[in-house]
Amino acid sequence: MTCPIGSGRASRRGMTSLVVASCLVLASQVGGYHWTKPGLAWPNSYYVPMAGFDGNNTLISSYYNWSPSPVITPKGYSSLYAVPFPFIPMLWGCNATYTDAFQSAVDSNFSNAALTPDRVVLGFNEPDITGQSDCSPSDAASAWKTYLEPLRSKGYRVGSPAVSSGMSGKEWLEDWFEACGGGCNPDFIALHWYDIDAGDFIDHVKDYYQTWNKSIWVTEFAVQNFTGTGATQATLSQINQFMDVVVAWMDTVEYVERYFWFGAMYDMQGVNPLNCLLDSAGEAKRTGALNSLGVKYAGSNGSVTLASGGRGNQASSAAAGCRDFVRLVWPAGMSFALGILGILGLVI
Ligand SMILES: *[C@@H]1O[C@H](CO)[C@@H](O)[C@H](O)[C@H]1NC(C)=O
Ligand SMILES: *[C@@H]1O[C@H](CO)[C@@H](O)[C@H](O)[C@H]1NC(C)=O
Ligand SMILES: *[C@@H]1O[C@H](CO)[C@@H](O)[C@H](O)[C@H]1NC(C)=O
Ligand SMILES: *[C@@H]1O[C@H](CO)[C@@H](O)[C@H](O)[C@H]1NC(C)=O
Ligand SMILES: *[C@@H]1O[C@H](CO)[C@@H](O)[C@H](O)[C@H]1NC(C)=O
Ligand SMILES: *[C@@H]1O[C@H](CO)[C@@H](O)[C@H](O)[C@H]1NC(C)=O
Repeated sequence: MTCPIGSGRASRRGMTSLVVASCLVLASQVGGYHWTKPGLAWPNSYYVPMAGFDGNNTLISSYYNWSPSPVITPKGYSSLYAVPFPFIPMLWGCNATYTDAFQSAVDSNFSNAALTPDRVVLGFNEPDITGQSDCSPSDAASAWKTYLEPLRSKGYRVGSPAVSSGMSGKEWLEDWFEACGGGCNPDFIALHWYDIDAGDFIDHVKDYYQTWNKSIWVTEFAVQNFTGTGATQATLSQINQFMDVVVAWMDTVEYVERYFWFGAMYDMQGVNPLNCLLDSAGEAKRTGALNSLGVKYAGSNGSVTLASGGRGNQASSAAAGCRDFVRLVWPAGMSFALGILGILGLVI
């Protein structure tokens, strides 16, 4: 497998990035967006250009990165590395490790309309899963009321905790609403889905809609059988069929507002690598060029042209203290702060 590096679903983690004044500059201004349903959950471990997704007539209109802060192009790097899509922040976990960082983002540049033009915020990432944000419904209710619910009166739309597609997910969300006692009012339900069958996917999304009568954002989905090691996985042809069916369905269903395929990344972290939207031939140089699945998903094939030699133009333009193309891994047990330092290989 050429796209993935990771070794299991539990190793997939929230990624983050942060404005570090000495090292990073603000991404280009954004504005005047036409919102579309497909977005990118990106980049999950590698910092790669997104130009491949940004060709003429691209369908992509937003990205999130499992963190409260957008990816900012390192100083000295070409505009190729500027992220061409509006950012959607996330409060990944429920405890102080996450809420403190989230609140400081809220207090600083988070409310910058140029950085977060859509005024949407995502809630906790897979709180029903050990190894993901792993929050009790009551802790999540409490954190929600403190950090997320108040944003609604400031003009933000806020997505529910994004639970997994197993039974534990729906039960967790039901328990969470109960623990909230009416004090949590997400504007839409975010959910994740991993399995094989397109009909099951559609039934699942319908079920969540019918249960909560709110719009749906599918913030992670891919064709992956998580039954266990050695589980039967889909072929590329089956993945293509799955994408055709579920994307066509979501595009026609009004209550599905956005969806984010997993994934727009080289490191698929245990998810069937055939779901990768990037051309594995570009991995060594991190070109970000798309494969045919990526071209289909994005609706366009942007050109990704890196300077010859090496990875991108890093040799001539790396700012002091910055290294790029370092894996943006946030290893188990690593604190949020250490994770931030690991981003883009920053050492400050
Ligand atoms: C995008 O559109 C412009 C203007 O029509 C054209 O010059 C350019 O070649 C197109 N790019 C691609 C990758 O098709
Ligand atoms: C970022 O936050 C700092 C501190 O609050 C503020 O001075 C600065 O103007 C903000 N920048 C943007 C682009 O909003
Ligand atoms: C915060 O939550 C994360 C994710 O569940 C967990 O790994 C970490 O140990 C928690 N930190 C504290 C201080 O409880
Ligand atoms: C569902 O929500 C809509 C508003 O979004 C409301 O008009 C409708 O009455 C609700 N339906 C049910 C069954 O609660
Ligand atoms: C998932 O993998 C298990 C174990 O190999 C298999 O029994 C099951 O049929 C697979 N699911 C699908 C939908 O192919
Ligand atoms: C994307 O376009 C380039 C030429 O601009 C082409 O070489 C490549 O095959 C295309 N990729 C796909 C997946 O269609």
